[in-house]
Amino acid sequence: MEVIVAKTPADMASAAAREVANVLNAKPNAVLGMATGSTPLGLYQELVRLHKKGELDFSHVTTFNLDEYVGLPITHPQSYHYFMHEHLFRHINIPPQNVHIPSGTTTNYRAFCEWYEQRIKQCGGIDLQILGIGTDGHIGFNEPGSSLTSRTRLKTLARQTIDDNARFFKNRDEVPIYAITMGVGTVLESKEIVLLANGKKKAEAIAAAVEGPVTSMITASALQLHPSTRVYLDEEAASHLKMREYFDWVQEKKPGAPQA
Ligand code: F6R
Repeated sequence: MEVIVAKTPADMASAAAREVANVLNAKPNAVLGMATGSTPLGLYQELVRLHKKGELDFSHVTTFNLDEYVGLPITHPQSYHYFMHEHLFRHINIPPQNVHIPSGTTTNYRAFCEWYEQRIKQCGGIDLQILGIGTDGHIGFNEPGSSLTSRTRLKTLARQTIDDNARFFKNRDEVPIYAITMGVGTVLESKEIVLLANGKKKAEAIAAAVEGPVTSMITASALQLHPSTRVYLDEEAASHLKMREYFDWVQEKKPGAPQA
């Protein structure tokens, strides 16, 4: 794991956008794994800006979103379908048939989840997965206790996640209780992973994920087992890291490191 502390959330967003741009420059038909929530908003704004400037082309890109709430129609303003359309897809030139978001309204969740896993494989696997982290250490909606080899499936949201996400709904009772999410095992098969976190509320989860033991109680800690994960943080999210000085030292010394 590489840990990069940006000065501001805006710096974090542009660093993450550079990661996406590098992948697309090397492979214009790359497969991207997308996250929703407040954390990647700056990244999506930056991707839209680069696209409008003519610097990013999404015409051959395929995407897979991590998760979706069960029971929300795609027109619901809090559905992740709606979120992705509003914040990214309607502003870029990605062909609609290349966009994949788990269905929150399928009549057969088990069959849908199997299909989603197969579809990721058919498309060649995820080249770059974008992740946020929950205050309980979740990635996707892989709540504490999720198997670290789990695949796309239905999950019951933790009370803490329902409380955290209630801010997006009129009241807490409206937050769905179930979600469909890629598994930790699904995420770990991505070739590259970028985890983003900002704000004090994420500091504890980040310290546990980066420096704690690998445990299903903090599913983001499974990223320690992944060969190419970069964690982009702002100062507040990095504030509980004990190894902070070393992480900064590594970044400072990076330009001098042998390239081959
Ligand atoms: C969303 C997702 C979740 C969020 C996490 C943080 O697709 O997979 O894991 O990334 O709950 O949410 P925010 O960014 O709203 O704090």
